Amino acid sequence: MTLAAVLQRALAAITLLVGAPAIAGEVEVLHYWTSGGEAKSVAELKASMAQRGHTWKDFTVPGGGGQNAMAVLRERVLQGQPPAAANIKGPAIQEWAALNALTSLDAMASFDRWDDVLPKVVADQMKHKGRYVAVPVNVHRVNWLWANAAVLRKAGVASAPRSFDEFFAAADRIRAAGFIPVAHGGQDWQDFTLFESIVLGVGGPALYTRALVNLEPAALSGDAMRRSLELMRRIKPYTDAASPGRDWNLSTELVIGGKAGFQFMGDWAKGEFIAAGQTPGKDFLCVPAPGTAEAYTYNVDSFAMFQLKGWEAQKAQGYLAYLLMGKDFQERFNLRKGSIPVRLNMPLDRFDDCAKVSARDFAATSRSGALVPSVAHGMALTPAQQASMRKLVSDFWNNDKLTVSEVQSQLTALSAPSQKSH
Ligand code: GAL
Repeated sequence: MTLAAVLQRALAAITLLVGAPAIAGEVEVLHYWTSGGEAKSVAELKASMAQRGHTWKDFTVPGGGGQNAMAVLRERVLQGQPPAAANIKGPAIQEWAALNALTSLDAMASFDRWDDVLPKVVADQMKHKGRYVAVPVNVHRVNWLWANAAVLRKAGVASAPRSFDEFFAAADRIRAAGFIPVAHGGQDWQDFTLFESIVLGVGGPALYTRALVNLEPAALSGDAMRRSLELMRRIKPYTDAASPGRDWNLSTELVIGGKAGFQFMGDWAKGEFIAAGQTPGKDFLCVPAPGTAEAYTYNVDSFAMFQLKGWEAQKAQGYLAYLLMGKDFQERFNLRKGSIPVRLNMPLDRFDDCAKVSARDFAATSRSGALVPSVAHGMALTPAQQASMRKLVSDFWNNDKLTVSEVQSQLTALSAPSQKSH
């Protein structure tokens, strides 16, 4: 960027910050937030944009985890019609930036001191070649287990399980009391979400990183991975017959409605409990997935900004970037989304205990080295690697004839040089 362009952008950022009258523009935003809690979170964003006179245009592509949305985004960009912003995460941000499709947010970032207010692990993912190209809005923790308090009580389960032994003992009791032990939605990304929590619980962050992030053959073919897969298979009989294909939020509804005891899911599930008027610690419980209390799988939702033509559109886009990083927005949005603000040092007094535990554990695990990227939610592998692993895990979950050792050798093949693209 030329010096003049840098100055012009800095001026635009400053104009936004001091609150000069807005030039109204339209922002089209691609996202996949369609469940009850997610829709309420998006509504916060729309309202804030509308306050400044900007028009929000929803580009919603339903489908948990965002796989469908990413496919549609590719088509739109190929047609030369990118949205202003899209919810893109992790290494996928780098792929879009490498195609030169994204706009630099550096002027705004340096004026607003993003480097000082973001955890470094997050800031690094938002940058391409040292420049900001995406804006983070939250930190979701993925390694949670959700429980219906009344179901546990009725089944005679004294407290939410901390280990897999406790988990299976509780699941047996819940089944005997006539409830569904595990509300699982049988979609590939949900199978993968369950799998990564199991690997973390069985092998800890070291195995998780070696096997799922670094794709080390010895870890993928080793004993701890074998035990993880066996354990995953043991969980399946605790799911209900209607599980295959079910959306994640409908599974959460089973827990909310007292039909099921547990769900393994990231804390966007909390958004559903909250939207249904439930209270953590009373109606529902949040505990780290068995064996994972000392670790944390993070999943950061972020918006990448695409290059747009036209000053008004750019102005609205710039305002969106500024807004997303604002303290006020991060509080209001995350109170509904189930996640915690990604900005450091934000007061959490309005947040519930699940969020406070999440914030505490995020800080503690970043010091201890047990903070790991969620592989199932696009924080570590390239989209192609992620898709391959997701398919293998889901095939294993669905096909009882596929043996553990077959899957282990297929997983190990993912580490072949042709599969590793970076
Ligand atoms: C995650 C995403 C969350 C939530 C969830 C279900 O990947 O980060 O924001 O929407 O999928 O779609």
